[in-house]
Amino acid sequence: MTKNWKPDSWRSMPIRQVPTYPDELKLTEVEARLGNLPPLVFAGEARRLKKQLGDVANGNAFLLQGGDCAESFAEFHADKIRDTFRVLLQMSVALTFAASCPIVKVGRMAGQYAKPRSSDTETKDGVVLPSYRGDIINGISFDEKSRIPDPERMVQAYNQSSSTLNLLRAFAQGGYANLKKVHQWNLDFVGRGEAVEKYQDLAGRIDEALAFMEACGIDPNSTALHGTDFYVSHEALLLRYEEALTRIDSTSGDWYDTSGHMVWIGDRTRIKGEAHVEFLRGIQNPLGLKVGPTTKLDELIEIIDILNPENEAGRITLICRMGAGIVEDKLPPVIKRIEGEGKTVVWSSDPMHGNTISANNGFKTRPFEDVLAEIRRFFRIHRSMGTYAGGVHFEMTGQDVTECTGGAEAITEEKLADRYRTHCDPRLNASQSLELAFLIAEGLKEERDERIKVAKAASSN
Ligand code: PEP
Ligand code: CO
Repeated sequence: MTKNWKPDSWRSMPIRQVPTYPDELKLTEVEARLGNLPPLVFAGEARRLKKQLGDVANGNAFLLQGGDCAESFAEFHADKIRDTFRVLLQMSVALTFAASCPIVKVGRMAGQYAKPRSSDTETKDGVVLPSYRGDIINGISFDEKSRIPDPERMVQAYNQSSSTLNLLRAFAQGGYANLKKVHQWNLDFVGRGEAVEKYQDLAGRIDEALAFMEACGIDPNSTALHGTDFYVSHEALLLRYEEALTRIDSTSGDWYDTSGHMVWIGDRTRIKGEAHVEFLRGIQNPLGLKVGPTTKLDELIEIIDILNPENEAGRITLICRMGAGIVEDKLPPVIKRIEGEGKTVVWSSDPMHGNTISANNGFKTRPFEDVLAEIRRFFRIHRSMGTYAGGVHFEMTGQDVTECTGGAEAITEEKLADRYRTHCDPRLNASQSLELAFLIAEGLKEERDERIKVAKAASSN
């Protein structure tokens, strides 16, 4: 058990990005209520994910993490959950085929409700109000009442996470994710274009492979093909909520944050000696750390030592979010230092958060080509440094939104207004996500061919 740690030991540390609740009494009452509600995930599942992430850290699997920037109460619908799940499955199929290794699938879902903000206030037409901090805290409407933090929202976020997770589990294990359905995943696919054609082609090849296996006597309804592991994750930002769901696992005696399988610390709260690092120190879930361009390397090493003193593979995923234009300057020193210190981590690329721009018409957007460029550079850097580019982290949705410009459908700045629905940052839509998966798959395949070539050359010498 972690020394001098309790689920509430973060409360005595400095903290950032916290809302001020006007009604303390109600807040305490809601926290107590949440503390009595059942856990959302089981500790054994978090351990299993940690083990699978350990395989990623060791170069034997690949991490695909994605979902909404911010889940919302208003857009809560089974179709929306299914669509995001389905695109993640499609992406995973594209990646499995190319990388020939297991894909660890983790949604930014069932708990991704709290948002860090660069400013405490938002000004519109001279009116200044508290910033929107995510549906778990306050409302997005620009009026005074909506922006007041309401503790009851934590219960709604819990309930919605619980239903989301229930549906995801049903999809993942109940037959929807069966590889025999690979064609059907595409049936009502909204997008068109090259990525969809490529997907259909791939689905045809998977069908052939399954038919071949069946002919050989392998049961296509066997567990490996019938279902899939699917995990959920979110930023552990609102620590009152996280604390209330932190429980001792009766099988191991360890503390787990049962609000999700994996949680991460954002770029703005990853600070030594502060509350967020303190909280994460004592829970045994796999953890993510966002690593942005201003990250101080000495501090990062110290934080990793605090969070992962045993250097356990799978405990830490570094989610690098530099920006396409500077990743070549900023990432190599991070890799050099981490590897130099012998830290075992999963290297994942978040090509979203360093590439946000304002379009001429005021929409916050991300150009598809910048997202792709950052990923390509991420892979290239790792290859040249002899390290393993183990994963990707996207803000994406299964809906046909118009929030990021570019891609095969060539969404222009003018088209952004058509279906701009995000509660926070712009997301890749379904076809952009799939297109990206195919482009990453090509990179993974090249990497794998290169490894085989090197191994062959070594064995013939
Ligand atoms: C996010 O992932 O939504 C986020 C806010 O990222 P970052 O902490 O990297 O800015
Ligand atoms: Co975001």
